Amino acid sequence: MQQIKTERTLITLVRADDAEDICAYYLRNGDHLDRWEPLRPADYHTPEAWKIRTMDFAVEILKGFAYRYVVRLEGNREIIAVANFTGVVRGVFLASYLGYSLDRTMQGKGLMFEVLDTLIPHVLRQYGLHRIMAHYMPENVRSGALLQRLGFEVEGRARDYLKINGEWRDHVLTARINDAG
Ligand SMILES: CC(C)(COP(=O)(O)OP(=O)(O)OC[C@H]1O[C@@H](n2cnc3c(N)ncnc32)[C@H](O)[C@@H]1OP(=O)(O)O)[C@@H](O)C(=O)NCCC(=O)NCCS
Repeated sequence: MQQIKTERTLITLVRADDAEDICAYYLRNGDHLDRWEPLRPADYHTPEAWKIRTMDFAVEILKGFAYRYVVRLEGNREIIAVANFTGVVRGVFLASYLGYSLDRTMQGKGLMFEVLDTLIPHVLRQYGLHRIMAHYMPENVRSGALLQRLGFEVEGRARDYLKINGEWRDHVLTARINDAG
């Protein structure tokens, strides 16, 4: 298993062994994350459902469709963040979407920046991508600030772009280009 190290964290591609820890991460952070996520059925965050999902994710990784990562503090099993590079398109586009979240109690320490500042160049290089696209709701000030610090440029604004927490919501569209390739 390849581990990507940052000063404070260990980042790994999602595996079936992570299912229980991911499930615990989402259950612990329900109130924190619900307003930024799609509505989920009641049985979405169960260890059994996550077992199946993580096996599907492993296949997606093998096929190069999506690269989903979990983040831990060194020496600790608990997952503190996730970062998902999804919807990979190759050909003339070589692009992917990026989504992420951080445990509520870990915010305000620069940890998501530390993770993505290492992970984005890794993904661009490792999987030969040229463009990473990330979109946020205008009121998600923390996410907007993070993307700006990471070098994402605003490309526009889309009306009713994603159905978040049961409602179609406008989003700011941003992207980071790989100038090296
Ligand atoms: C979006 C989210 C990941 C941002 O988390 P975050 O902790 O603010 O992000 P960063 O890692 O960039 O940390 C920045 C904060 O750490 C502080 N900080 C402390 N030490 C730091 C360091 N060494 N380097 C950088 N920042 C540091 C910064 O001052 C800033 O705090 P402030 O916002 O109080 O000024 C988090 O709020 C989250 O998970 N939200 C819910 C899910 C979500 O919105 N996902 C994205 C949907 S588009």
